[in-house]
Order: sequence, then C-alpha cells, then structure tokens
Amino acid sequence: MSEKSGRIVSSSGGVIVGEARVPGDKSVTHRALILGALGGGDSRVSGWLRSGDTMATLGCVRALGVEVDDDGAGALVVRGRGLHGLREAASALNCVHAGTAMRLLAGVMAGQGFPSTLDGSSQLRARPMRRVTGPLRDMGAIVSDADGRAPLAFRPSRLGGIEHRMDVASAQVKSAILLAGLYAEGQSVVVEPGPSRDCTERMLRRMGADLRSETGRVTLVPGQPLAPFDIAVPGDPSSAAFLLAAAALTSGTVRVAGIDASPTRSGFLDILAAMGARIRVSPTAGDSGAGDCCDVGLSSGVLHGVEVGGTLVVRSIDEFPALMVLATQAEGVTEVKEASELRVKETDRIAVMASELRKLGAVIEERPDGFLVRGPQRLRGAVVDGHDDHRVAMSLALAGLVADGETVVGDAACADDSFPGFVQTLASLGARIARLADA
Ligand code: S3P
Repeated sequence: MSEKSGRIVSSSGGVIVGEARVPGDKSVTHRALILGALGGGDSRVSGWLRSGDTMATLGCVRALGVEVDDDGAGALVVRGRGLHGLREAASALNCVHAGTAMRLLAGVMAGQGFPSTLDGSSQLRARPMRRVTGPLRDMGAIVSDADGRAPLAFRPSRLGGIEHRMDVASAQVKSAILLAGLYAEGQSVVVEPGPSRDCTERMLRRMGADLRSETGRVTLVPGQPLAPFDIAVPGDPSSAAFLLAAAALTSGTVRVAGIDASPTRSGFLDILAAMGARIRVSPTAGDSGAGDCCDVGLSSGVLHGVEVGGTLVVRSIDEFPALMVLATQAEGVTEVKEASELRVKETDRIAVMASELRKLGAVIEERPDGFLVRGPQRLRGAVVDGHDDHRVAMSLALAGLVADGETVVGDAACADDSFPGFVQTLASLGARIARLADA
C-alpha cells in the first residue's frame, strides 16, 4: 500500500438523486499542458483538472523550462516557448502514475535537441512502453528502455515521418506519434482500427497544425508553428461515469453538467442505454476546443445484461471497472470481449476487479480479453483493496452502495488521481459514502 493509502467506506440504502459537475477532463488537461508548452505564447486553460496524474504532467512541463502560472481566477496560463523552446531538465522527468504523461511526453522528447529521461512510480514502470518506443524508433528516435518499460532515455536524433498501423486503437500511441511528427521531416500518418479519443487532433488543429482526420486515419504535415490557445476544459466523462453508474445502481436520477460527450468518449452512455437506463444528452453552448460539451441525464430503469465488444471497447475503455459492478446488478448475462487492453492499465483491471468483487460474494468469469457476469447477484460488504488504481478503487466503492452492510475500500487515496471530490460529490447526491482517515 502507498503511504497515503486512504480508505473509502460505503454502504447501501442511499439513492442517487440530483445534479452535479465533475472535475475537468484528464486527457484534455494533460494535452493542454503539453501542447501549451509547445505553443508560441501564453495559453489559458480554465476548468483544468488538478489531480495526481495531471500535477505530474505540470511538474514535467515546468522541469522543461516552461512557466505555468495561475491567472488568479483558477485558470492556468501556460507560457509556451514554441516547438523548439524547451530546455533540458536537471533530472529525470517524473510522470508518477500517469501513463498518458509518459507516452505523450515520449513523443515530444523524441524530437528534442537535448537528452531526457522519462520515469515514474513502480506501477508506471511496470506498464508496456514498446507500443510508443517502437514507432518512435521507426521514426529515427534514439531511445533506450528497461526491457520495453520505463525509464525511457532519449538522445537527440533526426526524425522522419512514418505511416504507423496500430494493432490496438490507442489515443496515447496515436498522440505520441503525432507529437513526434511535429519534429519530423515529412508527414506522419497513424492508422487505427477503432475510434480512440481525438482530443490531441482537435487541439492541434485549433493551434494551426496541418492535420487531417478521415475515418481511421490521421495525417500530420509538420512545418506550422503552433499558436497558443484559450480553452475551457470540459468535465471528464470518465468521472461522470461513476455518478451515472451510481444512479443506475440505486434506481436514482442524476444530471451531470458540462461533460465531453463526443463520439470517442460516449461509449459508456451507449452501454448504459443498452442496459435499460434512460439517457438524455443535451449539448451546451460554446466550443470547448477539445470535445463536445454536453449535459447528460440518467434515470434508471431495470438493468439488463449487455454484450460489449468491437469499437465500443475503445469508446469506453476506462469505464469497464464500473461496468463490471453494474453487471452484477443487471438481469441476465453481461459479456465483454476484445478488451484485453484492460489488462495493461494502472493494474490488470479484469483480474483485480474480479478478485476484489469476489470478496463481496460476486461470481465473475474472467476471460483473457474480457469477462462474463450473470446477474443479478447479492453482494455482501467486505474489506477490499483499491490497489492504488483510481478507477478500481472508485468502482469498488460503488459496489458498496448495493452491498449488504459496509464495504471498506483500502488503498483508495488514488481516487484523487482523476476525480478529486469523488466521495463528497457522491455523498451530496445521497450516497452513503465517506472517506476514512488512515488508522
Ligand atoms: C488516454 C487514453 C486511453 C485511456 C487513458 C487516457 C489518453 O489509453 O485508457 O486513461 O488520454 O490518451 P490508451 O490510449 O492506452 O487506450
């Protein structure tokens, strides 16, 4: 367990009712910091997510010589130094737990005229990095790694364009290639088998990059300077997912305002609707510059099992721990296929969620690329472990909302990696949930 392990306690009996907001989108915040650093002037980022993961990116960007200030009203001002203005950091860049920080920064560091090292926590050091170092090496990057894992040490090199076909759709890999492509000679093309989130493309285009997207294919032609931007980060749909799932589990009604519900991020809404929840999506005015801002309402019906596979997987990739909990309460079979990526997230989310939910009495069939659950199942409160994985810890706390007795989730301070205020927000909507100080 980490030093700040933190515990969340939850129990059944509350019904989720009301309206809420969630903190800013994690993916967009990482990108606003990194792309802002490469812009030719001051970018303003309002509604940014202040979380464990994004603070890691902020630290890296500052270590590269970029000033980032608060504008006094809570927005960040990233004083971009242009594509060639970063400075060599005094020590390794610490991405802590943030896979997005490491993979996106890998693309940037590959193109720099100075050496750099990307490193992180033992959890991050265990995650596969060949998916980015492979294509970056194909572009000419000189990078050493520890058997395909961090630390990643870059030396200056000349980059050329590439056409890279991803085996598995990944926004992190796509973004790393596009960022390196800004420094390459010739165009870079990324072909992806499914619609991974497109916030990097939206933001690069807005900054003036020559970038074209067709279905399954993104082309970047380097050579344009990047203009600074002013962005209002939308609420994170992956955080909103926990509130929507909590309402679905407790037969409640909730409205989450101002989240990104663009097609690459709205897979979980489609899954909830297929399970029988009534979902209403209403676009809000204005262009966030990174996603399609919407208010999303859910009123629950009887939940049914659902089959999930294909392109729906990448459109809801971070929501499967919560779906596994929903599946235990849905009538019939829920089956998830083609989702082996879940095994290489912060933890192996199939194995970890299955083993922790079993402690609550759930019966989960694990598959190499997914899981099968027959519901509804009666859960009993127990002590479970969040494994220092934010989405696992929050999902287990949701399970506690429908389990008999009390559920205590240990090693759950990591909820702050993506959703600071998770416990308070759910409690304000009527959930029986609290954060416990460590004994
Ligand atoms: C992210 C992309 C996804 C997602 C992660 C954030 C991003 O990872 O799981 O939480 O910001 O690009 P992959 O690109 O590896 O699927």
